[in-house]
Amino acid sequence: MDKYVLVTGGTGYIGSHTAVALLEAGYQIVIIDNLNNSSKEVLSRIEEITGTTPPFVQADLRDTDTVHEVFEKYSVTSVMHFAGHKAVGESVENPSMYYANNIGSTLSLIEAMQAAEIFTLIFSSSATVYSSTALSPFKEETEKDPINPYGMTKYLIEQRLTDLIKTHADWRIGLLRYFNPLGAHPTGRLGETSIGTPNNLMPYLMQVASGKLPKLKIFGDDYDTPDGTCIRDYIHVADLAKGHLAALQFLKGRTGAHAWNLGTGKGTSVLELVETVEKVIGYPINREITSRREGDVIEAIADPSKAYAELLWRAELTIDDMCKDSWNWQQQNPDGYSSTR
Ligand code: NAD
Ligand code: UD1
Repeated sequence: MDKYVLVTGGTGYIGSHTAVALLEAGYQIVIIDNLNNSSKEVLSRIEEITGTTPPFVQADLRDTDTVHEVFEKYSVTSVMHFAGHKAVGESVENPSMYYANNIGSTLSLIEAMQAAEIFTLIFSSSATVYSSTALSPFKEETEKDPINPYGMTKYLIEQRLTDLIKTHADWRIGLLRYFNPLGAHPTGRLGETSIGTPNNLMPYLMQVASGKLPKLKIFGDDYDTPDGTCIRDYIHVADLAKGHLAALQFLKGRTGAHAWNLGTGKGTSVLELVETVEKVIGYPINREITSRREGDVIEAIADPSKAYAELLWRAELTIDDMCKDSWNWQQQNPDGYSSTR
């Protein structure tokens, strides 16, 4: 059993669900987060669900000394690295901020890990690393060519992490390429928050469903797909969390750098997702078809067979589960973590 797993970005959306999965599986964890895009309230919610309040250090990962102190204090043996900025549009407007934070924090983390002789790292990568002209389903070796600065930081970090093996053969690196995460904890106590108007489909849909936003804009219905709208591989955040535990288990027996797609392998169109939400909430979503959004690919679906073959992991939850859990979260927490019960 690991002594402690450091979860960077552990008060964020995916990190908090994985923190719960780790605690429920008997791991001890410590969280570092600078709360740049999350709330301390998440720690109480983790405690509510698991009965444990994990130790928390509010710090920027670029503060290498503090990270090193955490390693020493908690005898950390492995790291799950979720911390980073994640908004594509913002990365186009302010690329320097993305390069500085995402790459800077990873380089700092590597430095602290090397100093503490910790060599197991699982990194939150993204399907955005794949070329926008590649055909689905994407395999891990599908051509990479990120088209925005956010995706480029993920790609460059993957390269740097893969490079580590050349300098020290003990490194055990997992590169987890998430497709489109949706859903929330089934209790409705953890979920995704958006600062300002959301850009991604599900948070936007939830705000239209709850009357906070007037209308969903569907970005194009003239794509070459069965209903004309874009297709994505949506995956429940709880399935993603389990993928991290499976990767950690795999890396106990294996050195080297290993990439895995975490997706379901199934495509869902924008209209199909909207219709599933309508079924869950029981009334129609106000919507209109608008022009295509620049940079959207027609279809992005994972080939998750490598993750199944090597990690014995496969996504189990359905689009219905994702919509139900997102809606439960939205209803219980209309203002995110500042909502009161
Ligand atoms: P999130 O914003 O909810 O969580 C990220 C956390 O990292 C936040 O709590 C933020 O405060 C923290 N953070 C950011 N920079 C930091 C720094 N320098 N030092 C310390 N803490 C810092 O995002 P998420 O959706 O949970 O995503 C987690 C990871 O997964 C990110 O790396 C993201 O790029 C990646 N990812 C997310 C998606 C998605 O759709 N959510 C898809 C693919 C990949
Ligand atoms: C986007 C990012 C991707 C990131 C992911 C999750 C781009 C090009 N890609 O993926 O890197 O990993 O978010 O954070 O931005 N849609 C609408 N109306 C809306 C919002 C979305 O019709 O108001 C459509 C989009 O055109 C797309 C689908 O819904 O076809 C999903 O969009 P979104 O949730 O933003 O995810 P991606 O674009 O797949």
